Amino acid sequence: MGEILVMGAGLLGSHHLTLETVEAVASADVVYHLVTGMEAEQRLRQLNPRVFSLVGFYRDGDLDLEVYGRIVSFLLAQAMAGLRVAFVVMGHPSIYVAPTHLLLEHGPRYGIPVHILPALSSIDTILSWMPFDIANTGLQILDSNRLVSYGLVPMRNVPLLVFQVGCFGSGFITRQLQNAPDRLRPLVDYLLAYYPGEHPVELIECEMGWPHRAVRHRLTLAELATSGHLVNYNTTLFVPQAEPVSIRDPAFHARLVAPEAVSSLVQAPPTHGSQADNPGPAR
Ligand SMILES: C[S@@+](CC[C@H](N)C(=O)[O-])C[C@H]1O[C@@H](n2cnc3c(N)ncnc32)[C@H](O)[C@@H]1O
Repeated sequence: MGEILVMGAGLLGSHHLTLETVEAVASADVVYHLVTGMEAEQRLRQLNPRVFSLVGFYRDGDLDLEVYGRIVSFLLAQAMAGLRVAFVVMGHPSIYVAPTHLLLEHGPRYGIPVHILPALSSIDTILSWMPFDIANTGLQILDSNRLVSYGLVPMRNVPLLVFQVGCFGSGFITRQLQNAPDRLRPLVDYLLAYYPGEHPVELIECEMGWPHRAVRHRLTLAELATSGHLVNYNTTLFVPQAEPVSIRDPAFHARLVAPEAVSSLVQAPPTHGSQADNPGPAR
C-alpha cells in the first residue's frame, strides 16, 4: 500500500511553494495536480519528471461532486498500487478543496494514509492587500452557496470574504463559460437583508502567475446584482464591515491593561530548589 500527500502550490507558482512541498513533490513516485498557472506547472515538472495534470477531470456541464468523486477514486487506486502519490492543488489544500476532505474520509477505509501539508492560500494574499488588522476586526469566510442555502447570518461588524462566487447558484461546472450579468442577483438579494444597496464591495482576483493577472472591481452591493459577468472561478467577494466593533464589556476590557489582573491568570514561577526541581528523597 502506498500513501497520498496532499499539498498546495499557493497562488504564485514557485514563489509560493514551501520548502516542505518542494521536497515532497521531488520525492513522490508520481505527482498529480490541479494547478493552472504555467510557471507553477513547469516548476512541478522540474522537480519530478512524473507530473500529470488532472484538470481534464473538470469538464463543463459535469456535476462538481461527481468530478471530485472521480478524482478521489483515481488517486486512491494509484496509492493502492503501492505508489507514494503527491496531489498538488492551488492555494492551501484544506481550504475549499473538496477532494482533500474526501481523501481524508475515504483513504483510511482503504488502508491508505493521507497526509496534508500546509500551504499559502488565496486568503493569505487577499489579507496582504487589506488595510485592516483582523486582530481588531475579526474575519468571516463563507461559501456563497452555503451562505444562502443554510441561511447563515453575517456579522455586520466583521469583514466578510465570500468564496466561490464564480459557481454561485449551481453545482454544475461552468468554468469555460462567461457568467450571465445577473448570476449573483439571488446572492445580492440575500445580502441586502444585512447590508444597504450602496454598501461598497469588491470582486478580487489575486495574481496567479501568467496568464492569471490580478483584478479588482470596486462596486456597490446593488451594482453586484448585474455584474455576474465580472466573476470567474478565481473570484472572491469582499464585503467590508457595515458598522465598527465597539466595547460591550468595559469591565473585561479594562482588565486587559490592569497590571493587577494578570497575577490571577498565571501560576507563580517555581522558585529555585522548589519541589518542582527537587526529585525528592531516593527510595
Ligand atoms: C476551489 S477554491 C480553492 C481555494 C484554494 N485552495 C486556496 O487556498 O486559496 C476556489 C476559490 O478560492 C478563491 N480563490 C482562488 N484563487 C483565487 C485568487 N487568485 N484570488 C482570489 N480568490 C481566489 C475563490 O473564492 C475561488 O472561488
